[in-house]
Amino acid sequence: MISVIFPAAGKGKRMGLGYNKIFMDLAGKPIFLQTMLKFSACEFVDELILVAEPNECAGLKKLVASVPGLKPCKVVAGGKERQDSVYNGVKAVSEEAEIILVHDAARPLIEEDIIKAVVAEVRNTGAAICAVPVKDTICRVNQELDLVEVPDRSVLWAIQTPQGFKRDLLIEAEESAKAEKFLGTDESSLVRRLGHKVKVVMGSYRNIKITT
Ligand code: CTP
Ligand code: MG
Repeated sequence: MISVIFPAAGKGKRMGLGYNKIFMDLAGKPIFLQTMLKFSACEFVDELILVAEPNECAGLKKLVASVPGLKPCKVVAGGKERQDSVYNGVKAVSEEAEIILVHDAARPLIEEDIIKAVVAEVRNTGAAICAVPVKDTICRVNQELDLVEVPDRSVLWAIQTPQGFKRDLLIEAEESAKAEKFLGTDESSLVRRLGHKVKVVMGSYRNIKITT
């Protein structure tokens, strides 16, 4: 069984709408629904976990129950940071799930081929993410905005979601990060902390996170 967690409990500050960007309309439906419908269309996906702002959960439970074509969907309350939201999502995953995927609700342009490729690598190695080679030259700066370093671009990739893990590995990584107050920007950084290898599969430049 494969479960997918969708962190959707952000504030969407950079978007500047005055409300959470995942509710914005995209081609006739809210962004988060477009995202969840993409995963629902994958035959191998069994369960969806939407992680939302605590005061939006009741309304969202009703909404997701009425959407045709959506796989079984639980709605749980998120936390302060994205990592806290994912942690709450992990706790809601069904016992029978062997693989857990995490995918930003704000990435509605994901395609099935990439989800499939991530799942295939999770089956092989236990942990996989998608990413794309960066197109810009990236530099590191200090607090005074002096350029400190320009790393070799050929080895730099931009991390996307979905990120997928064998269930027990993700649970261990989340619990360990929480216990040791480690805050990462994605799940793969928590898994790598345990010394576990993470495989990278080619994502897509179309798989943007709607941010600004
Ligand atoms: N997210 C979440 N819980 C949080 C923060 C973020 O579930 N405490 C979710 C967002 O809803 C989004 C995804 O994580 O789907 C990626 O986060 P980001 O793009 O940073 O969204 P926001 O945090 O909402 O935006 P901003 O940082 O501009 O406020
Ligand atoms: Mg954010």
